[in-house]
Amino acid sequence: MSLVLSVDPGDPDPAAIAQAAALLRGGRLVAFPTETVYGLGANALDAAAVTRIFAAKGRPANNPLIVHVPNSAAARALAADWPDEAQRLAERFWPGPLTLVLPKRPIVPDIVTGTGPNVGLRVPAHPVALALLAAAQVPIAAPSANASLHISPTAAAHVVRSLGDRVDLILDAGSCPGGLESTVLDLSQRPPRVLRPGLVTLDELRELLPRVVMAEAALRQAAEEDPAAPLAAPGQLAQHYAPRVPLEIVAGDAWPAIERGLSRGLRIGWICLGPPPRTEPGLKVVSMPTDAAAYAAALYAALHELDDGGVDRILVTLPPVGEAWRAVHDRLRRAAHE
Ligand code: TXA
Ligand code: MG
Repeated sequence: MSLVLSVDPGDPDPAAIAQAAALLRGGRLVAFPTETVYGLGANALDAAAVTRIFAAKGRPANNPLIVHVPNSAAARALAADWPDEAQRLAERFWPGPLTLVLPKRPIVPDIVTGTGPNVGLRVPAHPVALALLAAAQVPIAAPSANASLHISPTAAAHVVRSLGDRVDLILDAGSCPGGLESTVLDLSQRPPRVLRPGLVTLDELRELLPRVVMAEAALRQAAEEDPAAPLAAPGQLAQHYAPRVPLEIVAGDAWPAIERGLSRGLRIGWICLGPPPRTEPGLKVVSMPTDAAAYAAALYAALHELDDGGVDRILVTLPPVGEAWRAVHDRLRRAAHE
């Protein structure tokens, strides 16, 4: 078992933070909360430490890691180019769930970027993450703290379940408020591309970057054409964030699909919008908020609960469409087994 230290999410114990920072500086792995999901952190400037992240997750070496920094000055120290738009985006959205992809400086080890020329940078908004960055005095490379292709963790228990003793220390600050991973924006290309939708929406980005586009379709196609090439945005691979139990998205009334499953003797987990109209033996219901931000915050916990909950199939009622729901739809699509 890895060591788990509970900390106050708003005012973490300096001794716990100091212990975590010392481990990071010593080349070890520390899982920590951010406002999106828990990250699996290592000193980003220590190639051997970063190698441990890839091993712990079973992550392909061509999938680059996001580097977390305490402020935009620290980001600029790692980026070879810092265009005006990066400055404006940083001022507007940092600390927060936006990752900026920019050309890297040589100080960033190649392993961090999957040998590619660009580095993903973000300033997280969680007080525990910021305290850890301040204490460690090094940038922290951190993917989501789950085994590769599994559901991202929004609680320390999810990290334990997915990574077990492959982490040296977990800082447990309860649930992550955002619940879905950051928006990844590639500023190294014209026009700027959203490589992964997230909690900062396309509409919000458009206010500063009128020409920003979604890169989804183009990237998926490139990955399919040459699976071994360095990935421009591996978060865009079709299946990702998937529970072990088969998951199906149902548009409209879910009852016919639920009854079909139950009549075949399957135990069904149902992620429904709002309270369920009724229940049935063999049916486990997770009732979700109807507000997009609250839904996003609860989604991974719902998937973890049902994945652990002895069901044979997960059905998800299709949430509403619209810009506020884009990241939710993206993650559901990736979680669905086709
Ligand atoms: O909210 C988040 O972003 C969380 C927290 C811990 O910060 N981190 C996270 O990391 O979700 P990860 O590794 O699970 O997802 C990062 C995504 C991947 O799809 C990766 O391919 C992409 O960002 N990415 C990272 N660096 C990149 C780069 N240099 N170029 C293109 N894509 C990059
Ligand atoms: Mg991830």
